[in-house]
This record gives sequence, structure tokens and C-alpha cells, in this order.
Amino acid sequence: APEKLRYDGQTVVVTGAGGGLGKAYAVFFGSRGANVVVNDLGGSAKGEGSGKNMADEVVKQIRDAGGKAVANYDDVMNGEAIIKTAIDNFGRIDVLINNAGILRDISFKNMKDQDWDLIMKVHVQGAYRCARAAWPHFRKQKYGRLISTASAAGLYGSFGQTNYSAAKLALVGFTESLAKEGVKYNILCNTIAPIAGSRLTATVMPQEVLELLRPEFVVPLVAVLCHSSNEDETGSIFEVGGGYVAKIRWERTQGALLRADESFTPGALLQKWKDVADFSRENQHASGPADFAGLLEDAQKLPNNPKAEELDFKGKVAV
Ligand code: NAI
Repeated sequence: APEKLRYDGQTVVVTGAGGGLGKAYAVFFGSRGANVVVNDLGGSAKGEGSGKNMADEVVKQIRDAGGKAVANYDDVMNGEAIIKTAIDNFGRIDVLINNAGILRDISFKNMKDQDWDLIMKVHVQGAYRCARAAWPHFRKQKYGRLISTASAAGLYGSFGQTNYSAAKLALVGFTESLAKEGVKYNILCNTIAPIAGSRLTATVMPQEVLELLRPEFVVPLVAVLCHSSNEDETGSIFEVGGGYVAKIRWERTQGALLRADESFTPGALLQKWKDVADFSRENQHASGPADFAGLLEDAQKLPNNPKAEELDFKGKVAV
């Protein structure tokens, strides 16, 4: 039989745990020995209002089943207060699941600053504030597991969701960088792009489909990534939902190199456009940034080119 993952003695903070995916995570961790902080502002799917019921009900469900949980009703913008709830009640934090979210779908033509700003606040700043408050604890104890919640809308674009897409892809970059800063301290940070039936998707998907996409189907991936047996999966992006789990990565075309002894003109580039843009040709999986430094080194061998030192461009850096 497969191993039954447990989290005894650990504290897990789940933001937006009053419903949908967050509730599924909270109930799971509560059933596997963890102390759970059930954060939820308790407002509407559009980010209006607030209330204590949603968080309270999930806490009750966990406790009734014999688990340990406390509620927190703060906006994720108050990340400090959310993490403090974990420290005050359980003395530590081991796992942070940045999950809270809202939607303000509207065509770009009709987008108001308020729709844009609120989405950025809840998804991006909220995740930042919670992660920043948890980080010193993770570093000090040399242990931490963090999940960010992106979306297919962010990875691929989605009609009527420019605000949400921008916020969700921001979380990918945020989490990939956190992974790099955290790895030395055994802080592993991954991004998921889930799909699940919840109040956020209830308006856009038929009932039969929603039932096939139970939030519980997303739990195993989060459970594995946040377990201490995960020692090296970090900085990754996963699509997950309906029982399917897959890791995704960027891809690079063959690319075109316009040597410096050629005319680096738009016309010259256009001649090589297939190399730049056609994925059906030989291509590389881009696990990291393109080797611009290496390309520059090659180019230096040609006459009349500046030396790498002069350009202060020695390392393999993302530009
Ligand atoms: P949901 O609406 O059931 O859950 C989100 C929870 O976050 C709600 O309980 C809400 O009260 C809470 N929340 C909202 N703003 C908050 C704030 N400022 N502070 C604290 N709590 C707040 O929706 P669902 O579907 O479970 O969404 C969870 C996450 O997954 C979100 O980040 C969402 O964008 C993301 N997601 C969901 C997909 C889906 O198919 N359900 C698809 C892609 C991403």
C-alpha cells in the first residue's frame, strides 16, 4: 500500500480556507495530524464584505473530526496577523498555502482601476505579505514549504481576465525566485495552476463538469509538495485538477543568432524568422534563461566586438 503522509507536530496555514480548494486542503491537513490555521476573510467571490462564518465552519469540521485548528479572519493583506495566529496558537509555522483569491472578470475595454487593483492586492500583495511574514520562521528553523496558486488563465491567457491573468503569472515569477532564495534553508516553494469546482467556477461551468472537478482531487499534489519527504521539488509549476497532475515548463525554439559581423537589421532577422518562431523545428526545453553570456562569448571572437568584461556581463543571468 502507498505511504500515508502525515504532518504531526507541524503547523499549516491555509489562506482562503473557508471554502473551495482552501477548505479541502485545511480539512486534509487537519485529518493528518497538523495544526491548521484556517484563514478566511469571509467576503464574496468579487471581494466584497467579510464575515467569520466561513472560517469558523471549517474549524468546527476539523475539530469535530478530532483535528486541531484555529480560525483567522484577516484579509491576506494582513499577512503578519495571519502568521501571528499560527505562532500564538501553535508556536510555529511549517507550511504556507497561499490560496485566497477573488475574481473581477470584465472585458479589458470596461476594466476599471478598482477591478485591476483589487485583484493585484488580494492575489499578489496578499501572497507576498503572508510569505514575508512566514519567511523569517522558515529560515530560522531551516524548514518551510510554500505553495502559490496560479491559474491556467495566467499561464495561457483568458478572455475577460486580464487583471486575474496578470496577477496569477506574477505569482509564478514570485515563487520561482522565492525557490531560489529558499533552497539553502530547506524552504521549498512551488506553484500550482488548479482547476476545481468552487464558487469561482460555478458561474462558468455546468454542474456535471463541476462534479468531476472536486477540490479534493487537487489535495494529493499539495500534500506531496508540502511534506517533509519532498526534499528537492522546488520552483516547479504544476497543472492539477479532475484527478490529473502534470508538471509544466517553458520551451525555447532553435533560435536565430545574428552574428555581429552580419548586419543586425530587422531585415536580417526576418530572414531567420522561422528559427525564432517555429516550434516544429528542433527546440530546447528551457529549464532556465537562455545562455546569453555564452552567446556573447562566441560573438566576442569576431572583430570589433566589445569584451564581456566591458559589458559587465559575465554570469549566466536572466535579462
Ligand atoms: P473560493 O472562492 O471557493 O475560495 C477562495 C477563498 O478565499 C474564499 O473562501 C474567500 O472568502 C477567500 N478570500 C478571498 N479574498 C480573501 C482575502 N483578501 N483574504 C482572505 N481570504 C480571502 O475559490 P477557489 O476556486 O477555491 O479558489 C482558490 C484559489 O485557486 C484562488 O486563488 C483561485 O484564484 C485559484 N484558482 C481556482 C481555480 C478553480 O478552477 N477553482 C482555477 C485557477 C485558480
